[in-house]
Amino acid sequence: MRERREELSELARGLARTPKTVSSRYFYNERGSELFEAITRLPEYYLTRAERGLLTRIVSGLIEEVRPRALVELGAGSARKTRILLDAMTEGGRAAVYVPVDVSKDFLLETANRLRDEYPALEVRPEVADMERGLRLAARPQAPCIYALLGSTIGNFTHQEAVRMIAGLTSGMRDGDVFLLGADLRPGAGKSLEALEAAYNDAAGVTAEFNRNLLRVLNARFGTDFDPSRFRHRAWYNADKTRIEMHLEALSAHAVALPGGPVICFQQGETLRTEISCKYDRTAVCSLLRQAGLNPVRWWTDERGRFALALGNMTSEGDSP
Ligand code: AVJ
Repeated sequence: MRERREELSELARGLARTPKTVSSRYFYNERGSELFEAITRLPEYYLTRAERGLLTRIVSGLIEEVRPRALVELGAGSARKTRILLDAMTEGGRAAVYVPVDVSKDFLLETANRLRDEYPALEVRPEVADMERGLRLAARPQAPCIYALLGSTIGNFTHQEAVRMIAGLTSGMRDGDVFLLGADLRPGAGKSLEALEAAYNDAAGVTAEFNRNLLRVLNARFGTDFDPSRFRHRAWYNADKTRIEMHLEALSAHAVALPGGPVICFQQGETLRTEISCKYDRTAVCSLLRQAGLNPVRWWTDERGRFALALGNMTSEGDSP
């Protein structure tokens, strides 16, 4: 776990930048996790439903092809779509190992216990780990194993961070193991720019509340005095960087105190960037996998071309017939 002092200096560095930035890891206190759950049910937020539908469609073929004995899920969260994979893996009472990995220990152990009750044939071995810091599992489960990073979680990472993270994972993978990635797609044939931006600007204002809640998390954790009512939610697609950016825009000029640090001045209209959510196409996903040392082997999209699942493996190209 990060030291608070280290986090505070990271926060100060982010707030000294132009534009000001803050790590999106602070969204997820209890309220933030609830708000995100609510986001996944919004009519505008198609990502969760598109991925779940796609996973349901392809899961039996995937399990037949990989014959996994274990599933390692990064950023497991509430493990709702995990059940689609676990159901297929444990069909007919087949034994399997599930390793949910998350930064939040309490949430993780709660999820683990729930799944133990639901799946008697499943061995659940939760691991607390910070994905950003590279994954070091206490014990690598038996191959073949599916390493899954679903829900467009990858979108929160810059290209360089994503490569580093997947490469760290890859270094522990063995022959037969696969990496399953869920990625949200760029606007194009199946998805309008309007539909993409609406997913981050819902009419009910849940995403705005989720965004402003980050300031409350900062206040509680670092003793800052951000006033959420002095900021408005903004989110847009940055076409150059092929990502959604979420910002909080200062409604008027004001200053915020950072304990033990400098006073942070906001101009009217100045923004604090709270999140990036990178969007992909097939080429971008393939090059990401390759740079992380994996061979792209499968690519699926939902029927409307909004969301993709990609599979990478470790077998060198010369090995395949
Ligand atoms: C959890 C990172 C996948 O980027 O779509 C949802 C977070 N932010 N609405 C995403 C989020 C605003 C979400 N991820």
